Amino acid sequence: MPAETLWDRLPAADGLLCMLTDSIGPAELDRAHRLQVISQMAVGVDNIDLSVCAARGIPVGHTPDVLTETTADTAFALLAAVVRRLPEGRDVVREGRWGDWDPGFLLGGDLHDTELGIVGLGRIGTAVARRAAGFGMRVRYTSRTRKPHLESSLGVSYRELPDLLAGSDHVVLTLPLSDETRHLIDREALALMKPGATLVNVSRGPLVDHDALAEALSQGPIGRAALDVTEPEPIPPGHPLVGMPNCLIVPHIGSASVRTRAAMAGLAVDNLLAGLDGMPLPARVEPGQSSPSASG
Ligand code: NAP
Ligand code: GLV
Ligand code: GLV
Repeated sequence: MPAETLWDRLPAADGLLCMLTDSIGPAELDRAHRLQVISQMAVGVDNIDLSVCAARGIPVGHTPDVLTETTADTAFALLAAVVRRLPEGRDVVREGRWGDWDPGFLLGGDLHDTELGIVGLGRIGTAVARRAAGFGMRVRYTSRTRKPHLESSLGVSYRELPDLLAGSDHVVLTLPLSDETRHLIDREALALMKPGATLVNVSRGPLVDHDALAEALSQGPIGRAALDVTEPEPIPPGHPLVGMPNCLIVPHIGSASVRTRAAMAGLAVDNLLAGLDGMPLPARVEPGQSSPSASG
């Protein structure tokens, strides 16, 4: 729904089923006098001002769990594609540049026998860690809280963020956007990374300073990046990252499988109807979960 249409309709709305691209900040909530429930068809709710919702007693629903495995599949697909240079290989074929087989042609990195660093060991991060074990990778993680049970069941080890960045061949971001995590991966963080390392972001674009990333990809230390999310979205086609051969960008399709999008839609509708009935939401955002100021 265009922002103007949403703005016009908010005063009459009893419930709102929204998308991650709808900015639901104080001004929007101020107009929504009748609102009894917000149901977002996504798990990340950084576009919604949760503190205003809490103060108004408006429950907020989202779609965790049903998209976890698909998003982890996407994270792994992006990682494998950029490390094994698949998009560059496809371009070579399409452009008629496939010459004789050459032992030194399009050499990339490996997944097996490498160190994977996961930033944010939640639902999706855990699902990425399980995939990594199957690929023969050693996994370390950082998170707000240490998770001893997962350290033993998944065979992952804890690192502080600087150590994780310095020691990982590939780093995957699976943590929410909040005031604390905005530009978590800035120039200083990128400078800590291993020469040739890979950065994969399937969370939210603003976790990464894109100007610093473009610099790091052209001058080092890092070697490649794969992004499902950017700042802004859509990223302008003229942005330096878009044209870089070592940067793979796809248009926020992390959860976009047929089955998963149907499950997300179903859960979003269930959350909405429960809220309108004054019942507990099947998947309610924990009150007190941090969210950035949802004004931008
Ligand atoms: P989740 O289960 O809540 O996991 C997020 C993890 O991040 C939590 O375990 C949390 O740590 C950790 N975390 C939070 N703040 C942190 C910080 N400041 N430093 C380090 N770790 C921190 O959420 P999820 O279901 O895995 O989803 C994660 C995010 O992925 C969503 O918020 C959304 O933005 C994004 N997402 C994107 C797509 C896509 O299409 N690309 C699809 C789905 C989700 P603790 O447990 O230690 O507190
Ligand atoms: C998608 O980005 C989500 O947060 O579900
Ligand atoms: C490559 O195709 C090989 O056979 O090693």
